[in-house]
Amino acid sequence: MLKGKNIVVGVAGGIAVYKVVDIVSQLKKQGANVYVIMTQSAANFVTPLTFREISGQPVTVDMWAETTNWNVEHISLASRADLFLLAPATGNIIGKIANGIADDMLTTTVMATTAPTLLVPAMNTNMYLNPIVQKNIDKLTALGYHFTKPESGMLACGVEGIGRLPETKVILNKVNQLLSQKNDFVGKKILITAGGTQEAIDPVRYIGNRSSGKMGYALASAAVARGAMVTLISGPTHLIVPCGVKVEYVESAAHMREAVLAHYADSDIVIKAAAVADYRPQNTAEHKIKKTGEILQLTLEKNPDILLELGQLKAHQVLVGFAAETQQLVLHAQEKLARKNLDMIIANDVSMPGVGFNADNNIAKLLYRDGRIDELPKMSKENMAEVILDKIHIECRK
Ligand code: CTP
Repeated sequence: MLKGKNIVVGVAGGIAVYKVVDIVSQLKKQGANVYVIMTQSAANFVTPLTFREISGQPVTVDMWAETTNWNVEHISLASRADLFLLAPATGNIIGKIANGIADDMLTTTVMATTAPTLLVPAMNTNMYLNPIVQKNIDKLTALGYHFTKPESGMLACGVEGIGRLPETKVILNKVNQLLSQKNDFVGKKILITAGGTQEAIDPVRYIGNRSSGKMGYALASAAVARGAMVTLISGPTHLIVPCGVKVEYVESAAHMREAVLAHYADSDIVIKAAAVADYRPQNTAEHKIKKTGEILQLTLEKNPDILLELGQLKAHQVLVGFAAETQQLVLHAQEKLARKNLDMIIANDVSMPGVGFNADNNIAKLLYRDGRIDELPKMSKENMAEVILDKIHIECRK
């Protein structure tokens, strides 16, 4: 239940505003303290008075109005919130937040809050499906904002399609789910590596691999949401760094090694999801190599094995590695777990279609020092990140 929780409800201007009255009422019934902020256009659909009566709190609309209650000014509301619920989230308000525009009380408060923020889009179908709106939603999702999916049906504008505000109970479920999120990594420093390394051949070419970085980024996002202080050492990727994660970008394995070692002593947990190149060109040509004969030979030399080194230096850290294999998954993973002195290894069969390298889903086996093996079914990398953290949390308590 929501007893004692502070929920700030941001109401933007759309026909669905009248349904938000019921949401506020239900939140109150579940015991939450509800503070409503409306945009000027939302106040054209339903009066602030209605929300004031239902919430039992003053309603803020105009940022510049004289206020008799300084406790409701935007920074105060932003920091008091356990959860920020924005409903209906119009295309306009989503666009503003995604682009850092804070020009009224509602957008200013959203910008200032560090609370989990749930946006409930509701708008005309074509507006919702507009690639600009979709890109803004993707961007905000990658930054850690939460969204509900609109329902399909007959819209107020007379069009049949996706865009309706979900039923109150769906929104309340999501609110409860977000507020019961675990905070089990508060005070823990987690170092995560992600993505593939690039080993320079000459100024324009490199040896790389197919790693997208998605698994490492999903772990960073989940860990920060669970209260950890997260440092992400990332190879080159196009992914957006999750909100609250400190990132350092690296290119080569040697560069990654330096960055990882600089943070190692101070880390409680290290998760090495990066696909590190095992070999690099012995010499990097100073100038672009010109096309000459039929065959070009490159001599490769071994890169440092970062995880092996971490295992040798291990003091108090919980050390977690990955094993990407195409055959004899468990055997190879067990060997790496022992040789690199790990506490846990996540073994992926990267030969399976649709999972692993560069995919959105993963199938893995989790192996531990004492010989236990957890077999995880196919799931999204986001869900797998949560399961891996659950297991790491158990290892931390040992
Ligand atoms: N790893 C590392 N440094 C390397 C190679 C790998 O830190 N030079 C780490 C990876 O980040 C991963 C684990 O070691 O967590 C296993 O990586 P993987 O490529 O599966 O194994 P390798 O040890 O490189 O062995 P092989 O390539 O022979 O399978």
